[in-house]
Amino acid sequence: MLKNKVGLVTGASSGIGRAIALVWAREGAKVVVSDINRQAGEETAALVRQQGGDAIFVAADVGKPEDQEALVAQAVAHYGRLDVACNNAGIGGAQAPVADYPLEAWAQVININLSGVFYGMKYQIAAMLKTGGGAIVNIASILGAVGFASSPAYTAAKHGVVGLTQAAALDYGTQGVRINAVGPGFIHTPMIGALEQDAAINAMLVAAHPIGRLGRAEEVAELVAWLASDRASFVTGAYYPVDGGYLAR
Ligand code: NAI
Repeated sequence: MLKNKVGLVTGASSGIGRAIALVWAREGAKVVVSDINRQAGEETAALVRQQGGDAIFVAADVGKPEDQEALVAQAVAHYGRLDVACNNAGIGGAQAPVADYPLEAWAQVININLSGVFYGMKYQIAAMLKTGGGAIVNIASILGAVGFASSPAYTAAKHGVVGLTQAAALDYGTQGVRINAVGPGFIHTPMIGALEQDAAINAMLVAAHPIGRLGRAEEVAELVAWLASDRASFVTGAYYPVDGGYLAR
C-alpha cells in the first residue's frame, strides 16, 4: 500500500506514532522516525528493521520550526524524497478550567499540538512539491470536534488542527498534495496511562465509547496508513474519527 514511499512520523517514540511507523513500514514505506525522545525513537527504528523494514531516527522538537526544517532536510538527504508525513507528536498538557488555566501551559500546548503541525506541514509540503506531490495526515482527536472539560488548550489546539488541515488541503488540492486529519478516541498509550489507572475515570472513559473499550494505537495506524496511501487518492481536507463511536452520541 505504501511501497517505495518515503514517510516521516513525528512523536514516533511511543504510542500511536510508533504504531504508525511500524504499520507504514509493514506496508512498504521507508520511515523517518522522529521525536524528542532519542532512546525510545532509536528503539522504534530498530523495531522497524526487526520486521524487515528500513528506518532512521532523527531527533526534532516539533515546537521548533528550525528543527522541523532540519528534519525534512535530513529525510530528503537520506532517502532522496518525501512522499508521506504524519504530524502526530502531541502532549496532553495541564488540566484546569479556563479561569484557572496556567498561561504557560496554554502556550506550550498550543505550540506543540497546533503550531507544531503548521511548522511540520510548511517544510513537508515544500519538499513534496519538488517531487510531484504527496500525502499528509495530521493527528487531531475527537477533541478536534467536541469539547472536554478542563482541557481548553488541548481542545482548542485539536480543533485548530482540523481547520488548519482544511485550509492546507484547499491550498494544495490541485498540486498533488492531499492533507487529512484523524480524530482518535481514547487510545491505550502512555499519554492516558494516569487516567486509566483511576478505576472510576477509566470506567467513565470506557462508557463514553459505544464499542465498549478504549482503542489500540494500531487501530489508529491502520486508518493513517490508508489515508497516506494512493488508495485514498480522492480524499483530502477530511476529518476521520477513529473513536469506537464516541462522536456518534
Ligand atoms: P504518547 O505520549 O504515547 O506519545 C507522544 C510522543 O510525542 C512521545 O514519544 C513524545 O516524546 C513525543 N513528543 C512530545 N512532545 C514532543 C515535541 N515537542 N516534539 C517531538 N515529539 C514530541 O501519546 P499518544 O497517545 O501516542 O499521542 C499521539 C498523538 O495522538 C498526540 O497528538 C495526541 O494528542 C493524539 N491523541 C491521543 C489520544 C489518546 O487517547 N492516546 C486520543 C486522541 C489523540
